[in-house]
Amino acid sequence: MIGKPGKPSARRTTAYVCSDCGSEHSKWQGQCIDCGQWNSLSEIALGAPPAPAVPSVGASRRSSWAGRVDTPTVMALKDVSHSEESRQTTGIGEFDRVLGGGLVLGSVVLVGGDPGIGKSTLLLQAVALMAATTPGLYVTGEESLSQVAGRASRLGLPVEGVHALAETCVERILEQAAPMRPALIVADSIQTLWTETLSAAPGSVSQVRESAARLVRYAKETGTAVFLVGHVTKEGGIAGPRVLEHMVDAVLYFEGESGSRFRVLRAFKNRFGAVNELGVFAMGDKGLREVSNPSAIFLSGSREPQPGSCVMVTREGTRPLMVEVQALVDASPLSNPRRVAVGMEGNRLAMLLAVLHRHGGIVVGDQDVFVNVVGGIRVQETAVDLPLLLAVLSSLRDRPLAEQTVAFGEVGLSGEIRPVPNGEERLKEAATHGFKRAIVPKANAPRSGRIAGMEVIGVERLADALEHA
Ligand code: TYD
Ligand code: MG
Repeated sequence: MIGKPGKPSARRTTAYVCSDCGSEHSKWQGQCIDCGQWNSLSEIALGAPPAPAVPSVGASRRSSWAGRVDTPTVMALKDVSHSEESRQTTGIGEFDRVLGGGLVLGSVVLVGGDPGIGKSTLLLQAVALMAATTPGLYVTGEESLSQVAGRASRLGLPVEGVHALAETCVERILEQAAPMRPALIVADSIQTLWTETLSAAPGSVSQVRESAARLVRYAKETGTAVFLVGHVTKEGGIAGPRVLEHMVDAVLYFEGESGSRFRVLRAFKNRFGAVNELGVFAMGDKGLREVSNPSAIFLSGSREPQPGSCVMVTREGTRPLMVEVQALVDASPLSNPRRVAVGMEGNRLAMLLAVLHRHGGIVVGDQDVFVNVVGGIRVQETAVDLPLLLAVLSSLRDRPLAEQTVAFGEVGLSGEIRPVPNGEERLKEAATHGFKRAIVPKANAPRSGRIAGMEVIGVERLADALEHA
């Protein structure tokens, strides 16, 4: 924020805030000079007491959230006293796993997802199951109290000790929370909240940002855990300011295919646990139920091997998961054939097809190529490379891979097959699911060529892998 020299900044009544990085500018510009995003500035009204309400860009913003009272001094890190963060179980094992082993008191967790995916259901279940040990306050800005109570009773949740509040003004929420001193607050949703210190409309970038900042400050000052529910935009980001993701301790996304009852909760950021950790749920008439054996649901269920399909073992977070990669390769009527990837990165698909041509001698330049990961799951690691190319080859030749075969491995630009982390663990997972044959990077294969009764074929070059397939 750059005020004109000599003029007190309190006289400025509006500022322009970037919806992506949250930085402030004194005048409107087409591009944010801090993050380079185009068309992201919107005007906000600055509140009457300007200084603490709207943190300015830079170091002061960070320190204003910390709720620190003493003057900070430099210390030798080894002399700083610290305690293990205390964690509470949410009563839902898969939820605990994604949080990194339970909810850390005093932490702020943003839960994002499409409307109707089940965010309110999950958090209501968690608040109710935690109530015995962690008194919680469920604040709803979208539903009435009777709707919330009705849902709780339909789900058969223990509501003893659960408090609810239908309110959207942050100051009044905190006022109501003060005498009750909940250990956990759920704010459903952050897009409905507003603060009295700003005159901008609820839902605007500045209101969402300031309301969240106020709740983060409250959490850090009082040690209360806070869940913020956030809707996502079509592009998949949290609606409103991107900066929310920087302000909170953890960002979890709730995903699922429309029409499927399975839901995946993924840690996108977590200061207290592993990122990309997955929790798997099924939505039923009694709300969300944990899926204890998630591997089974991400296989297409077809017993007979089909052309264009390859099963892989991915390792998202801290556990291995069997998923099925499918490809459809079809002669294209277009001069510029289509490459469509669902559940993995599109640019990587184009790159891998080039490697397939150059180092595998397989031409798909005149074919449309569609690839999909079954079950609406997203695979973000490079171990998908080899199974993807095997699926493409299988579809192109219209011949299925040998029965009970799995694969994983990264494919390099010079056609080499590179090892991926936790190879042995992946192979064991495949063996427990009855797979008999694995095509994997040589460095991931055990010397004996067998693991738990499964034949393991280690390959070094793409050409070898294609031959074995
Ligand atoms: P909800 O938690 O309201 O979604 P969000 O808060 O993310 O918008 O979930 C609503 C959907 O879940 C709705 O389509 C109905 C379905 N649902 C069930 O199938 N079973 C249930 O027991 C509940 C409570 C909801
Ligand atoms: Mg909801």
